[in-house]
Amino acid sequence: MMSVELIKAVGDVQLGNPDVNGKNENDEDDDVNPWNVFTKSQTGVDYDKLIKRFGSSKVDDELLARFEKITGKPNHHLLRRGIFFSHRDMHTILNLYEQKKPFYLYTGRGPSSKAMHLGHLIPFIFTKWLQDVFDVPLIIQLTDDEKFLWKDLKLEDAISLAKENAKDIIACGFDVEKTFIFSDLNFIGHCPEFYQNMVRIEKCVTFNQVKGIFGFGDSDVIGKISFPAIQAAPSFSSSFPFIFGKEKVPCLIPCAIDQDPYFRMTRDVAPRLGYHKPALLHSSFFPALQGAQTKMSASDPNTSIFLTDTPKQIKNKVNKHAFSGGQATIEEHREKGGNCDVDISYRYLTFFLEDDERLEQIRKDYTSGALLTGELKKELIDVLQPIVSKHQERRAQVTDEVLQTFMTPRKLKFGC
Ligand code: TRP
Repeated sequence: MMSVELIKAVGDVQLGNPDVNGKNENDEDDDVNPWNVFTKSQTGVDYDKLIKRFGSSKVDDELLARFEKITGKPNHHLLRRGIFFSHRDMHTILNLYEQKKPFYLYTGRGPSSKAMHLGHLIPFIFTKWLQDVFDVPLIIQLTDDEKFLWKDLKLEDAISLAKENAKDIIACGFDVEKTFIFSDLNFIGHCPEFYQNMVRIEKCVTFNQVKGIFGFGDSDVIGKISFPAIQAAPSFSSSFPFIFGKEKVPCLIPCAIDQDPYFRMTRDVAPRLGYHKPALLHSSFFPALQGAQTKMSASDPNTSIFLTDTPKQIKNKVNKHAFSGGQATIEEHREKGGNCDVDISYRYLTFFLEDDERLEQIRKDYTSGALLTGELKKELIDVLQPIVSKHQERRAQVTDEVLQTFMTPRKLKFGC
């Protein structure tokens, strides 16, 4: 297991913020890095602590108010409810939008399994909303090379997983005129400018530094050691000359907070290359069915609800595995009430039930004991089943031709 100390130990190099990355001996910090998320706490990772440690900024009421004022639209519930809870330079992005200056969105996915799960959808659902409200181009990187290097996967299989996952991503509703999806293994060899940026980045970061940020060791394969440059390169618009020409267009990256180490590195090298630092919006993790100590993981089918699950499977998984904050008996539950802070069904509703009033009613009723665990689970099942079925219907519409169009390097439409 990769220790969080390793990804925080950037104080001795130029990367990161030395003040926030030091860890004292007895610190029982949560483990959060691109390969692992674990906390001892039942309520999940301590996100305020993480903001301090990573040196990012909290998505506070002021930013939320500014978001609504500038976009003229109500904030997405994932933003309103603090699921996207941390950022870097989001005010700069809002300033650009206010001044009608361009920026673009960049996000990605490591295709490690055929079936994506509900947690994988979160950044894409939110990114789609960002694309709609800001009317900006979006670039989606599929890191099939990363999964080949890290997992026990054949190269050919990594390539085909990227295609399968791209179809699920397209099914989230992205605008084909404004979205370019690429897989590293197919695209990079055709785009000299992308490779040139990779090499520029590689020249700025020493082995010592990536060891500090990512915890690489002497026996890690060299592909892993240079991989961060590949995830960093799409943050710079000059990597995509067919979209941006020679213009230096700033970038906003919505992602789960575990990806931040890549972009701390990117932000550090950007000024040295004469590029804009990418801005970031970080999400918290989508918890496993078994509880908020870890995130949903495709490698353990019982922790996850897959986008391929049938209504019956969803029902059974929620009923059987969703960790409950309820009491042991009905009498006790009526008397003491349930605990929404640890209850996974309630937590999932905060991600997927859009209606604020309904959610608040459920919270009150569960907390008072008026709503029983079985009833709460039913609420969740009723919300999730149609979301997953509709996703399956949309995915079935994504033909190979549609996929091909999204993945063809081409000009994209700019709103401003
Ligand atoms: N490394 C990410 C993963 O394993 C994939 C990724 C590539 C990504 N570029 C990104 C995620 C940009 C968020 C933003 O899933």
